[in-house]
Amino acid sequence: MPTQPKHTAYLRRALLRWYDANKRDLPWRETNDPYCVWVSEIMLQQTRVAAVIEHYKRFLSEFPDVRSLAEAPIDDVLAQWSGLGYYRRARHLKAGAEAVMERHGGVVPSDESELLALPGIGAYTAGAIRSIAFGIPAPILDGNVFRVVARFFEVEGAWTSTKDKKQFWEIAGRLVSQQRPGDFNQAMMEWGAMICTPVSPGCSGCPVRAKCGALASGRVGELPTPRVKEKPIAAERTLYVLSDKAGRLLMRRRPDSGRMAGMLDLLDELPARSSEPESLGSFKHSILNKRYEVTVYSSRTEASTRGRKNWEWIARERIAALPLTTMAKKGIRLAQSISLFQAGDEANEAH
Ligand code: ADE
Repeated sequence: MPTQPKHTAYLRRALLRWYDANKRDLPWRETNDPYCVWVSEIMLQQTRVAAVIEHYKRFLSEFPDVRSLAEAPIDDVLAQWSGLGYYRRARHLKAGAEAVMERHGGVVPSDESELLALPGIGAYTAGAIRSIAFGIPAPILDGNVFRVVARFFEVEGAWTSTKDKKQFWEIAGRLVSQQRPGDFNQAMMEWGAMICTPVSPGCSGCPVRAKCGALASGRVGELPTPRVKEKPIAAERTLYVLSDKAGRLLMRRRPDSGRMAGMLDLLDELPARSSEPESLGSFKHSILNKRYEVTVYSSRTEASTRGRKNWEWIARERIAALPLTTMAKKGIRLAQSISLFQAGDEANEAH
């Protein structure tokens, strides 16, 4: 039996000691506030730690507590989320904050079923909030925890298998420290992120190498069963930075459901009554498994929005506060970099 109590006690002790000495200083580790833990764990679910740090700080200075998030316009929330992707998380987080105001008087619950009843909170997030914020010995299972468990205890399993996941949840439940559950869970993730990485793991510097099953049997490279990565698909898009005489931008609002719902995008067609488009260049942008090459044109337009319910004229000074897709931001930035250059030229000529 791989998960012997002897190994389990060793793992807890060695891992927590390593974590205490080596954990990264991350802003969400400075607090046990359940709302902050909730925000950080949602952001971290599909996004790298490095990309989350600045977003997390900005998000919390804008929406410091459940009430401020619940009362904020969804546009403001999406604007703060821009760049993190997977925008459904932001909508769920806001809906979750509203539900906490209504059902729990603004206090994030510690009860498992009450947490699971909130929008966007699944077993992982509930476990993270309960252990990190409330000190309850609840397990978590994410890709990192799955991998370290598979290797250390030499358990066969694939992340994509529901049955295997169920077994790993049970193991995680037996492992979690009763004394320091939040630190233990974070130590497991930290170990997976820093040492026991998917490829080229740092076994020589591993704090629990002495009792690692996969290391002893030479199976580190085989466990867990590798995920079959989807191949990236190359795609092309054309976007138009369309402005009128007053400098307003013509943009389109994405539909209320589906990807990046309700966010503003550049138009991908040239409307009637537009000047000959001028090429601004191109940039690369990835969404899920698509690798886009995006070509950007600018044009002066006198287009009408009549009959185009999803088209909106946006004054320049409002842009920063609105929820733009990252693709739109990149396109506008490209246009600005060129027009700023031109503005500089004009300024020089005026001397
Ligand atoms: N990934 C998700 N949550 C994390 C946390 N609290 N610490 C480290 N990595 C994480």
